[in-house]
Amino acid sequence: MTPTAQKPIRAIILFDSRTSGGSTEKLIDAIGRELAATGAYVEKAKCKSTGDYSFVEEFDLVIMGAPIYYLLVSSQLLGALIQSNLKKYLAGKKVALFLTCGSPELMANLVYMPQLKMHLGGNEILAEKIFAPDEVANPAIIAQFVDQISKGC
Ligand SMILES: Cc1cc2nc3c(=O)[nH]c(=O)nc-3n(C[C@H](O)[C@H](O)[C@H](O)COP(=O)(O)O)c2cc1C
Repeated sequence: MTPTAQKPIRAIILFDSRTSGGSTEKLIDAIGRELAATGAYVEKAKCKSTGDYSFVEEFDLVIMGAPIYYLLVSSQLLGALIQSNLKKYLAGKKVALFLTCGSPELMANLVYMPQLKMHLGGNEILAEKIFAPDEVANPAIIAQFVDQISKGC
């Protein structure tokens, strides 16, 4: 009997940033490349707080991330979780979370990450990472984050 080929994991990176081509977008591209190298099919989509997220249904894994501006997760990602149908389509999905910010990790864990996690009660969180300014372009740290994600898939 011939072995059946395993279907590649389908991953979507949902993000927001005010800075086109900024540190968050570069990080997302690096995460995407690293994940694709494991055989996953990866897409990215910039969030709109009033968007239609029914397309999320097509993905096995949802990676969400954004920068912090003035103590809050960037508004279009946070807004999408609060106002749109995103939460409905996230139900039962495996997720991974990341933030980029300038604050120390303790502060970011206590104040910033819960802004995302409070919307994800029923989701399995495969990995979560707060990227400090000196980590956003660090290939080893990005690889570690992606490794954690792919081990959970
Ligand atoms: C206007 C502005 C406000 C910011 N506010 C915060 C903040 O409240 N807390 C924090 O930890 N970092 C803050 N930062 C740092 C950003 O979160 C960090 O530099 C991030 O990587 C920027 O991502 P971007 O290049 O995609 O915009 C702020 C940066 C800017 C430009």
